[in-house]
Amino acid sequence: MTNPINIGILGLGVVGGGAVRVLTEHAAAIERKVGAPLVIKKIAVRDLNKPRDIAVDPALLTDDPNEVIADPDIRILCELIGGVEPAHGYVLRAIQSGKNIVTANKEMMAKAGNDLLQEAEERGLDFSFEGSVGGGIPIIQPLKQALAANKFTQILGIVNGTTNYILSKMTAEDADFGDVLREAQAHGYAEADPTNDIEGYDAQYKTAILASIAFTSRVDPADIYVEGLTRIAKRDIEVAKELGYVIKIVGIGQDLGDALQVRVHPVLLPQAHPLASVNDVYNAIFLHGDAVGDVMFYGRGAGGLPTGSAVVGDIIEIARNIRRGATGRLGCTCYDQKPILPIDQLETNYYVRLLAHDRPKVLASLASIFGDFDVSIESVVQRALPDGDAEIVWITHRCLEANLRSALDVISRLEIVTGIQNWIRVEE
Ligand SMILES: NC(=O)c1ccc[n+]([C@@H]2O[C@H](COP(=O)([O-])OP(=O)(O)OC[C@H]3O[C@@H](n4cnc5c(N)ncnc54)[C@H](OP(=O)(O)O)[C@@H]3O)[C@@H](O)[C@H]2O)c1
Repeated sequence: MTNPINIGILGLGVVGGGAVRVLTEHAAAIERKVGAPLVIKKIAVRDLNKPRDIAVDPALLTDDPNEVIADPDIRILCELIGGVEPAHGYVLRAIQSGKNIVTANKEMMAKAGNDLLQEAEERGLDFSFEGSVGGGIPIIQPLKQALAANKFTQILGIVNGTTNYILSKMTAEDADFGDVLREAQAHGYAEADPTNDIEGYDAQYKTAILASIAFTSRVDPADIYVEGLTRIAKRDIEVAKELGYVIKIVGIGQDLGDALQVRVHPVLLPQAHPLASVNDVYNAIFLHGDAVGDVMFYGRGAGGLPTGSAVVGDIIEIARNIRRGATGRLGCTCYDQKPILPIDQLETNYYVRLLAHDRPKVLASLASIFGDFDVSIESVVQRALPDGDAEIVWITHRCLEANLRSALDVISRLEIVTGIQNWIRVEE
């Protein structure tokens, strides 16, 4: 029999449990695909006494990660702890002791991925992180391999299942943010502390990884403009629907040649856009490559089994390489260091919803201020409200964000304006 390939795992939570389940239940099929059995040699957890959904031999568990990192028989180490430290230190030491790495850790990869990838490449080791973006959706390997011939100019992704679930429910059921968030928490789709998801930080890490790979230029997550979900009111969703749009939170990257534009925020998408019908906890990533044209990847963006599928896919690929003695073929693919433009240099269309006194010439005065700042109007809809005010909704032509912000600043101080309710970027 061919010698087994030993695997060590750090973390046995949602993803660790899913990966162990897939490895165990599909052991025979995986052995055929690799040409050698894969054996889980050790799993490090924080608390040995914690009750777990997954049944594992207690002898495999340790609360000392060093027992996994320093074991010379382990060839592949899976880091499934999360966060930057101590995960980053553990992974670095594992590379230095000659282990190939699999991780699903988006925060670590977004903040420190290029150094870790280089470290692994210099030692001729494999390092894969398919599970870090899009859960079970294959996107990192396709970008680095099957689609590597393309020059990508645009990526657009719904990469956070929690916010997509909340927005889908608010849209379909005319529901309030707070009620849907509580329901999402009850279903396990949102964490008890949902800040990372609803403020857009989770999407920020994933978008940094995607943009870095698609544009072969390192994108620091700190340079990505981020706006979360909390600004979106039920009324914006209703009005967007009436105008033929849906509101989604997307990660967007554009390669403008000398610079990149990378951002995460809510957008109005036309109802016919391929991402507009991606609902609930599903994720999708839409790309435009110069040779392939438009491509879209769709599937379950989180969860133990979907992410476990991606993690085990990486393990299988690495194990095959070990069998052939062909590891370390693909390191960091960020060859450039293009600047990221600040958000006020963005040029796009905007939706603006404001309340103003319902009097003659109000519309004309507001339109004239937009005009003063080179913001031209594509459409405007006015609706009288019972209290003597009017709700006015504008869709602008493409304009510079700095100009729109200046116009809104002047408008917000007018006596005739009760308040700017919201403004949202439109992705046509
Ligand atoms: N959840 C998802 O759907 C999903 C999807 C894609 C990617 N990811 C990524 O996958 C990674 C894991 O996420 P998760 O949801 O599986 O997290 P989780 O459920 O909180 O599990 C984390 C695991 O790591 C263990 N752990 C934490 N600190 C440790 C330490 N210092 N030493 C040893 N073990 C330690 C915990 O041990 P105990 O069990 O003893 O507490 C637990 O088993 C993260 O990077 C996350 O971003 C998650």
